[in-house]
Amino acid sequence: MTQKHVQAPRTRQDCEALDRADPLAGMRARFALPDGVIYLDGHSLGPATHGALERLARAAGEEWRRGLIRSWNDAGWFDLPARAGARLARLVGVAPGEVTVTDSVSVNLFKLAVAGLRVLGSRTVMVQSDEFPTDQSIAAGIADAGLGELKRLEPKDALAAFGAYRGVIIRSAVNYRTGEAADIDAWEQMAHQSGNLIVWDLSHATGVLDLRLGQRGAKLAAGCSYKFLNGGPGAPAFVYARADIAQQLQSPILGWFGQKDQFDFGASYEAKDGAARFATGTPPVLSLSALDAALDAFDGVDLAQTSAKARALGDLVIMRTEAMGLKTISPGEAARRGGHVSVRHEHGYAVVQALIARGIIPDFRAPDAIRFGVAPLYVRHVDVWDAMDTLSDVLATRAWDRPDFHARAAVT
Ligand SMILES: Cc1ncc(COP(=O)(O)O)c(C=O)c1O
Repeated sequence: MTQKHVQAPRTRQDCEALDRADPLAGMRARFALPDGVIYLDGHSLGPATHGALERLARAAGEEWRRGLIRSWNDAGWFDLPARAGARLARLVGVAPGEVTVTDSVSVNLFKLAVAGLRVLGSRTVMVQSDEFPTDQSIAAGIADAGLGELKRLEPKDALAAFGAYRGVIIRSAVNYRTGEAADIDAWEQMAHQSGNLIVWDLSHATGVLDLRLGQRGAKLAAGCSYKFLNGGPGAPAFVYARADIAQQLQSPILGWFGQKDQFDFGASYEAKDGAARFATGTPPVLSLSALDAALDAFDGVDLAQTSAKARALGDLVIMRTEAMGLKTISPGEAARRGGHVSVRHEHGYAVVQALIARGIIPDFRAPDAIRFGVAPLYVRHVDVWDAMDTLSDVLATRAWDRPDFHARAAVT
């Protein structure tokens, strides 16, 4: 979607016209979307692609069942983390060897932050107080383990506070609750001036924003692959370490998959080159196979178009929800947002359940945020329009106010 198409649609017909002009419209066919559902999850789990489902069946039914142990070589299982990493590298704008797929985001943030502290010779680990809980607890856990001292930064003056310390910060590129996109250039400039390191958490940013991390001076990052990258539930996360700095870094978890010549079974440990040194143990091959195939959905996709479309769809959510009297907690300025928009409602959880009962799936983040994810590869303007019509009806009729919609499930 180029900027010239981004005018606020006023009617469903306007939305249809925007969808016809959408250069990403053809991408939707790559997804196995269930009938009768508008999927605006915001964004905890991307939908399956046809390719990922086929690949999963092949990986289990042929490679595992028939190939057995031979498949580590014959089906290329051993190289999968690097191969998928190279494809992710394009999506975040860095060189192929600078990304590998391994572990979860939580574990990767730990490894990168501890390695960063060591190379700086610092003990100061920083995190903002509005970060995703795992980012905060990983930073706190580093301090608890005696590997650093925690500085919790208030969001309003976090950039200046970061510049005043010397150490490592764990920082989301897109905030999980508000959808606010960090000013990566400003943060990296501050890191450069102060001699600090930033471990970017790209979980809500990859697959939506045109990150161009290499060009912007970013050195370290981790991100998840089950959201906008559609890798599937529990798909492994990734690590980015810029080639020059990677060689100076030592992971605090020296697992055998991060070791050169691991099948020599020698006594000494020499870390692999590049991001691969942050691998730890045996990769989850079935999940990784699904992820690798899911990444096909991004083949030929221009990330400037994904970010422009996500922002146009986000504008539409804001325009419609404001008209319903809801307050957004996401930046109004599209350029400062990622791929989701959150609005507040005192009974947000029940409202989300009422929407799900009608086939519209957003999600809820305590205490009162309804998140609408607008994944640019498969969400259309008409989907947002129709979902907003349903939301308007649910609010006007108080259809959310039923005891079963108030009963909280374990996962929200
Ligand atoms: C911003 C952010 N960071 C980290 C995580 C957790 O990632 P993982 O479960 O892979 O550790 C999430 C999960 O939703 C997230 O939204």
